[in-house]
Amino acid sequence: MLDYIEYEDFRAEVRAKVDEIVAPHAAAVDADDHIPNDVMKAVGELGWFGATAPVEYGGLGWDTVRYAVLVEEVSRASGSVGVLLAVQGSLITYPLQKYGTEEQINEYMPKFASGELLGSFGLTEPGAGSDAGNTKTTAVLDGDEWVINGQKCFITNTKRDWPCVCFATVRTDPEKSKGVRGVSSIIVPPDAPGFNYGRKENKMGLRGSDTSEIFFENCRVPKQNLLGELNEGFKLFMVALDAGRISIGAMALGLGQAALDLAVKHAETRVQFGKPIGTKQAIQWKIAEMATKIRAARFLVYSAGALKDADLPYTTEAAMAKYYAAQVGREVAYDAIQVHGGLGYDKSYPLERIYRDVKLDEIGEGTSEIQKIVISRNILQLKKK
Ligand code: CAA
Repeated sequence: MLDYIEYEDFRAEVRAKVDEIVAPHAAAVDADDHIPNDVMKAVGELGWFGATAPVEYGGLGWDTVRYAVLVEEVSRASGSVGVLLAVQGSLITYPLQKYGTEEQINEYMPKFASGELLGSFGLTEPGAGSDAGNTKTTAVLDGDEWVINGQKCFITNTKRDWPCVCFATVRTDPEKSKGVRGVSSIIVPPDAPGFNYGRKENKMGLRGSDTSEIFFENCRVPKQNLLGELNEGFKLFMVALDAGRISIGAMALGLGQAALDLAVKHAETRVQFGKPIGTKQAIQWKIAEMATKIRAARFLVYSAGALKDADLPYTTEAAMAKYYAAQVGREVAYDAIQVHGGLGYDKSYPLERIYRDVKLDEIGEGTSEIQKIVISRNILQLKKK
C-alpha cells in the first residue's frame, strides 16, 4: 500500500527551501512575467532541474513520488516555477534517459540536470493540439543533417534569457503525411541555425513561465539528433506525456493546497458577527470538502507515481491523477476565493493568481476531456474501427 507519510520529512525539507528561495519572489514572478535568474540559479544549485535525472549524470535520481512532492511544494509557492520543473523532469530528462543514445545522454543530461539548459517539448502546433498526431512540421535528411521546417505554439520552457533545447515532433516519412505514423522526435539545440522563437504567448496565468511559438526555417541539426526510433516519435511523446501528467497533477495539488491553507487561515482569523467565520457551518463545510478533495487527489497523484516507479502500467492512472487533481485544484481555489470574500478578488492577495495558474492544469499536457478519452479507452478495451 502506498503510504505517503514516509515522504513527510522529505516534504518538510523541500518546503523549507521553497519558502526561502521561491516563495518570496512568487508575486513578482507573476507581476513581471519573468522568473529572475537568481531564482533559476538557486533552484539549479539544489539540483531540482535534475530531480529525476540519474545520479551518474549529475541528477538527484529521485523516484517519481519524491519528484511529485517537489513539484507540488514548488507549485504551492509559485505555479510558474512549478511548471518549469514539471516539464524539465517529466517531458525532457525522462524521455532522454529512456530513448536517448549514449552520446545524446552524455551530451545533454548533465546540462539539463544542472539547469544550464532548459528543455522544451515541441509537440503542439496550430493544427495539432488535442489531435497530437496531426504534426505538419517536417524534417528531411540532407546528407548528414536534418532540415526542419514548420511551426510550433504554446511551447513551455522557452525562456528568452536562458538556453533552451527543443525536443521537436517532426514528420519524417513523406509517404505518411497524416496521422500518428511517420512522425519522429528530434533534439534541436538552441544555437541551431533556423531555430527561432515567435510570439511569447499572452497567458491568463503562469505568467512567469515563458510559453512561445517556435519557427523552424530550414533549421539544420546533425543526423544523430534523432531521439528514439525513426517514425516512432508519436509513441515516444505519448510515453513522455504519461509521466508529464503525473507532474501536472502534482502541480495542481500544490496550487490547491496553497488555496486551502489560505482559506483555513482566513476562516480562523477573520471575525464577522463577533466570531471567526470558521465557526459558521457554511464555511466549515467548504473547508471539509476542500480538504477531502485535496487528500483524494494526493493519493491519485502519488499512486500513479508509485506505479511508474514499480515499472507497472500507469497510463490510465496518470490520466486520472491529472484529470482529478486539476479539477480539484480549480474548485478549491474557487472556494478559497469565496471564503475570502472581497479579499480573495484582490490582486494583492495570492488567491486570484492561484486560480489563474491552476486553470492551466485542466488544459496543458492534454485537456481534461482528453484525459477522459484515455481513461475510458483503456477501461472499455473496445477494438479500434
Ligand atoms: N503509451 C504508449 N503508446 C501509446 C500511448 C501511450 N500512453 N498512447 C497511444 N499510444 C500508441 C497507440 O498504442 C497507437 O499505437 P498502435 O497504432 O501501434 O497501436 C498509437 O500510439 C496511436 O494511438 P491512438 O490511436 O490512441 O492515437 P490518437 O490519434 O487516437 O490520439 C490521444 C490519442 C490520446 C487523443 C493523443 O493524441 C493525446 O494524448 N492528445 C493530447 C495531446 C497533448 O496532451 N498535448 C499537449 C502537449 S503539451 C505541450 O506541447 C506544451 C508544453 O510545452 C508542455
